[in-house]
Amino acid sequence: MSAMDFSLPPARPVALDDDVEAAVFPGGPSAQMERMLHDLARMYQERNDALADASRAHYEAVLRLSLAAEFKDDDTGEHVLRIGFLAERVASLMGERPGFAQLLRKAAPMHDIGKIGIPDSVLKKPGPLTPEERQVMNRHAEIGARILGNSRVPLFRMAADIAGHHHERYDGRGYPHGLAGEEIPLSARIVSVVDFLDALLMDRVYRAAMPVPQVQAMIEAEVGRAFDPRVGRTVLVHFDELLALRQRLILEGLTVAQLIDHVHREPLSREDLWPARRTQWN
Ligand SMILES: [Fe+2]
Ligand SMILES: [Fe+2]
Repeated sequence: MSAMDFSLPPARPVALDDDVEAAVFPGGPSAQMERMLHDLARMYQERNDALADASRAHYEAVLRLSLAAEFKDDDTGEHVLRIGFLAERVASLMGERPGFAQLLRKAAPMHDIGKIGIPDSVLKKPGPLTPEERQVMNRHAEIGARILGNSRVPLFRMAADIAGHHHERYDGRGYPHGLAGEEIPLSARIVSVVDFLDALLMDRVYRAAMPVPQVQAMIEAEVGRAFDPRVGRTVLVHFDELLALRQRLILEGLTVAQLIDHVHREPLSREDLWPARRTQWN
């Protein structure tokens, strides 16, 4: 039996007499049809607006949770905002799809959301961490991935990949899973380098910002070790451009509201769905 066996019989045109037609379609059938199409278009627009509002509220809530995690780490929150733009630029310089690069800008700011689950006694400890405290601290990657969950939304799927894997190392000596090379999602390999770059160039309570040539040399030393060579080399070749972008973001004093407005002007497209080998965090 084929699918055709279940098809409905063809519709027969129904003849209406003039009085019935006038009652059913006041103003004539085409005017009625036009009104129906207009109403449908309005309902469709309202539905799309409601979906956009809901996705914006969802993104804003999670982004603000990421900022709360960052403030816990005694930061201003600016680092979190810059990371997205720097990661997007690196992805573009590597020739990645614009959809991927844009998604990375939205997802990367959530990389350390898991710090919300780390006790202040460890997170804010002024001195070096003991091996046990280091283990507690390292749990922020897995906690972050779990907070972001096994979402069906591409943005949160990528954010979970980044949160869970941004401390993996290309040579397989990172955490939490010791993934190596291309086993680590590309999004996380990119964020790992820009996170390192931006964090070292910042003043922290426990140390001053490092000089640019020192940061450059440290990245160079980790190419092929902590960092994917393709990502690391792209960052080094375009170092001045990335520093200029970073400086511009600092001068512009980017706010959370601006970031959210900015990212929501670009709806996600189908190409934002990527084939993924993914870790299940549950
Ligand atoms: Fe982290
Ligand atoms: Fe960071």
